[in-house]
Amino acid sequence: MRPTDPPRTFRVKSFGCQMNVYDGERIGELLAEHGIAPAPDGEDADLVVLNTCHIREKAAEKVYSDIGRITKAGREAGKTPLIAVAGCVAQAEGEDIMTRAPAVSMVVGPQAYHRLPQMLDLAVAGRRVTDTDMPAIAKFTALPERRRVAASAFLTVQEGCDKFCTYCVVPYTRGAEISRPWTDLVAEACRLVEAGAREITLLGQNVSAWRGEDRRGRAVGLADLIRELARIDGLARIRYTTSHPADMDEALIAAHGEVDKLMPFLHLPVQAGSDRILKAMNRSHTADGYLRLLDRFRTARPDIALSGDFIVGFPGETEADFAATLALVDSVGYAQAFSFKYSPRPGTPAAGLPDQVPREVMDERLHRLQAALNRDQLAFNRASVGRRCAVLVERRGKAPGQWLGKSPWLQSVWFDKPGAGIGDLVPVELVEAGPNSLGARAVGHA
Ligand code: SAH
Ligand code: SF4
Ligand code: F3S
Repeated sequence: MRPTDPPRTFRVKSFGCQMNVYDGERIGELLAEHGIAPAPDGEDADLVVLNTCHIREKAAEKVYSDIGRITKAGREAGKTPLIAVAGCVAQAEGEDIMTRAPAVSMVVGPQAYHRLPQMLDLAVAGRRVTDTDMPAIAKFTALPERRRVAASAFLTVQEGCDKFCTYCVVPYTRGAEISRPWTDLVAEACRLVEAGAREITLLGQNVSAWRGEDRRGRAVGLADLIRELARIDGLARIRYTTSHPADMDEALIAAHGEVDKLMPFLHLPVQAGSDRILKAMNRSHTADGYLRLLDRFRTARPDIALSGDFIVGFPGETEADFAATLALVDSVGYAQAFSFKYSPRPGTPAAGLPDQVPREVMDERLHRLQAALNRDQLAFNRASVGRRCAVLVERRGKAPGQWLGKSPWLQSVWFDKPGAGIGDLVPVELVEAGPNSLGARAVGHA
């Protein structure tokens, strides 16, 4: 590649899960610290970082159409932007990305992006560079301090996955489960609050597998960390995501009943309702085991809102298996959920299984599943009408004096209140419900 001028502006585009959103923010902070400014809205950037997701084929392919679009726009504007591919596609495909998309000069994995500034120097000199090393913890200590964050901020506490569900690329793209140390997390949480956060969502591919030692060297788990963070003045709300049913312990369940700042919401993916399919997925739990676990959370926190992830059309899934998924959905009554068509991923055991389900069958099952999930989401929202709660304001609404925020149950809520502001916790009464949001009226006290 030809040497280029050092970039003056950058843009980071993140795809996939919230951990990528967190990484994308940190990449932005790192570049800013190295004197590169975020590109103003609507302007082409000199450096584009595509922070990619490999979870399903569609997500993974999106990066290539994006690269095409960026190079075309650059050509029309008479410039050649530097392109870095970060995230899980970078980890999975490595330098093959540059063979397929020669406009890319940097490929950097999710555990190596703290070295992006050094890679950039080489790329500016005309070299192509790939770094997909996996020493996960080094990254966090090398990143700059957090300065300005949104009212609701993410904090990655755990990375990687040892579960090896047979359909999933994450154990390969993010590596083995590792936990960030207690003191680093407490310090970063304090910084986030100083930088404007009122809510922190603790993130991990398996966040409830977080393990550590507190200052006295005592072995601790996620519930202890939550209790410690709840002591931070100015922090109003704590959430965590995503969990695997195998790692949910009694301490975490108890915390839901005892820690006021821990929000009444649980995202606990189940994937399917048929034990035969769960076994083939290597999920290590049954449908009934999952339901009993949810019951324990409900006992600890009766108003807890439940969320899940589902895959339809896993190889070998019959109509009877799928009916078991629908039955599970009916018995849980999710407040919200994500559902996907199975996508065979290179290198995963399930990709080689016989009886791959035809696309039309998957389409039809996804349609039925989503109809059931949407029905339950609307029912949950309708049942919330009349409730009083606090809304954490995250954005302005369209009309003057209108605000958008989240209820404790993670519902989007809008209301009018002249003089309110982002980061406020506004007491409201929920007065009207749609499928995706609720309207509220500000009241004196929640
Ligand atoms: N660690 C989390 C989330 C992993 S990815 C967990 O275990 O729940 C988020 C979701 O993507 C998964 O829960 C699953 O529903 C979905 N997913 C993962 N691999 C997939 C694949 N090959 N095809 C379709 N959906 C998939
Ligand atoms: Fe993927 Fe399963 Fe790990 Fe979740 S638990 S990241 S679905 S392998
Ligand atoms: Fe995607 Fe990687 Fe997250 S594959 S879902 S960005 S861990």
